[in-house]
Amino acid sequence: MLIIILSLLLAYLIGSIPSGLIIGKTFYKVDIREHGSKNLGATNAFRTLGIKPGIAVTLMDILKGTAATLIPGLLGADIHPLLAGVLAAIGHMFPIFASFKGGKAVATSAGVVLGYEPFLFLFLIVVFFIALYISKYVSLSSMIAAVASLTYCFIFHLDDWPLIVVIAVLTIFIFYRHRANIKRIMNKTEPKIKWL
Ligand code: G3P
Repeated sequence: MLIIILSLLLAYLIGSIPSGLIIGKTFYKVDIREHGSKNLGATNAFRTLGIKPGIAVTLMDILKGTAATLIPGLLGADIHPLLAGVLAAIGHMFPIFASFKGGKAVATSAGVVLGYEPFLFLFLIVVFFIALYISKYVSLSSMIAAVASLTYCFIFHLDDWPLIVVIAVLTIFIFYRHRANIKRIMNKTEPKIKWL
């Protein structure tokens, strides 16, 4: 039991690592929570800090999710790896190391998928970039990729109910955290990316 609690705690703590804050403050003396959308996520790191730091934050956030799914196996905890992934996404959204004000769980959720079903990760990346190319909205593309991933699981992984449940939970997290973006998309005030 102790090892299960330890695994889940570790997954939450890994998810809590505020990549955008670390890179922004260490290398640019910028707190991205005071700029752009004020979100502690990869998109706002791109927007506020630039392409290279944006890529670094994206990779770190993805890695957090992937690392979390590996923890139960590494520690020998008898829990589903995706459960640790959910804890990492919660850590990313409500990080203990950043006053519980974190990101929108997109990159970290993608990392969870990468750690468990790499082909689904490739699928969601392709869907994300097609949606981004067409819409120019990162937020909308993130939500479309989440819904597409859930649909994919219903079609190709109907026998893997933990995967379906976890992708459904992560999709709900992602939509919930994008409430303001959804309003802005409807008001046509959501910023579009200019570089694709
Ligand atoms: O990664 C989150 C993204 O979908 C939206 O971020 O900063 O535009 O609200 P942001």
